[in-house]
Amino acid sequence: MTKPIEGFSKLTKAEKLDWITANFTDNPEAAKEVLRRYWHPDKKVQHLHDEFIENTLTNYYLPFGISPNFLINDTLYAIPMAIEESSVIAAASKAAKFWLTRGGFKATVIGTEKIGQVHLMYSGNKERLKNFFEEIQPRLYADAASITKNMEKRGGGITAIALRDKTNILENYYQLHCTFETLDAMGANFINSCLEQFAATLKDGAQQYSTFTETEKNLEVVMAILSNYVPNCLVRAEVSCPIDQLNVGEKISSEDFAKKMVRAVEIAKVEPHRAVTHNKGIMNGIDAVILATGNDFRAVEAGIHAYAAKDGQYSSLTHAEVENGIFRFWIEVPLALGTVGGLTSLHPLVKLALEILGKPSAETLMQIVAVAGLAQNFAALRSLVTTGIQEGHMKMHLLNILNQLGATEDEKVTLTEHFKKNAATHSAVVTAFKKLRTS
Ligand code: MEV
Repeated sequence: MTKPIEGFSKLTKAEKLDWITANFTDNPEAAKEVLRRYWHPDKKVQHLHDEFIENTLTNYYLPFGISPNFLINDTLYAIPMAIEESSVIAAASKAAKFWLTRGGFKATVIGTEKIGQVHLMYSGNKERLKNFFEEIQPRLYADAASITKNMEKRGGGITAIALRDKTNILENYYQLHCTFETLDAMGANFINSCLEQFAATLKDGAQQYSTFTETEKNLEVVMAILSNYVPNCLVRAEVSCPIDQLNVGEKISSEDFAKKMVRAVEIAKVEPHRAVTHNKGIMNGIDAVILATGNDFRAVEAGIHAYAAKDGQYSSLTHAEVENGIFRFWIEVPLALGTVGGLTSLHPLVKLALEILGKPSAETLMQIVAVAGLAQNFAALRSLVTTGIQEGHMKMHLLNILNQLGATEDEKVTLTEHFKKNAATHSAVVTAFKKLRTS
């Protein structure tokens, strides 16, 4: 059995490759070859990648594609997307084209409030804690001034610090619930630095607060950390058109199509099993843009799913209605994004993705990302309530299957032609491939 290793992080990259392949792969030379093949030929770029994370062995590539023809608030965008799943870009592009001739997407940022919390345990007198907080508040801002100075110059900073009594949910539990405006930065480092300073000021201030008893002076700071649940960092994106313009041309009348779309959303609103898949489709669009633009998809995922459950049951992120002959379809999602800082100026592809999007502000990026999610959901529901998704999906998936089977370029051309007229299920592709090989 392989023994644990001491000091792995201090090994050179070559030594790391030797160790991992010798101990955890069947064919170390072949494994090393795979790892090396994905090194970037430009040493500078590779060095950048090496330093993004710890113990880098190689790079993990995802396809980076473009979904064109998105008309958002009267500006035309081609949206970069990084994703491994076939059909997502095709679906987004189809939805973009559909809405291009129907007024495009309208998007509005509803709020940009970021949140961070200092979590406290305090078993003393509540009134004295409240008074202490009132007195220490100006010092919380003052002690963080060196951190907030630049952000304030640009118009951002700490917007509020509140003491919250949470003892009804956990004995002795209080919070400093803090809100921030971080402008074009996602702001995680800024927020966490402020919060850690608040924690230090709080501890020090409590020690010196003569009204406190000795026990109260030792109030416990458990942790200080931003929250990825940002329900007031919210964006709305919408499409609408008269029902008679909803001609999707798939053997269904515009009226029936509108009704079915509304039904599909209603089901996702009330049925968590469907809601999760419905929202997963939305995240296909959202995550792909988040990744391409170097944002933190884990933060966005966690925050969005919490938002989807905010009323007590996991539910649809999109909404649909037909009113006075108008079909309206919209999404509201919390998105804490950045277009400066983090990877945005470091990763060459992220920089390029932002350039393709016209170097957007964080607010514009919020709008673009929400639109990508809405477009994805529109495309998915459109397929689901008309032809079903397998028809389009399997055709897109065909190339993946053929690549897995090791098909040559000629075989791919022949089989792609064949599956224009036949259902491209996995087993049908395998059978046709074998038949072609043996013929
Ligand atoms: C597949 O990645 C996403 C869908 O399942 C979304 C949906 O069902 O709405 C097609």
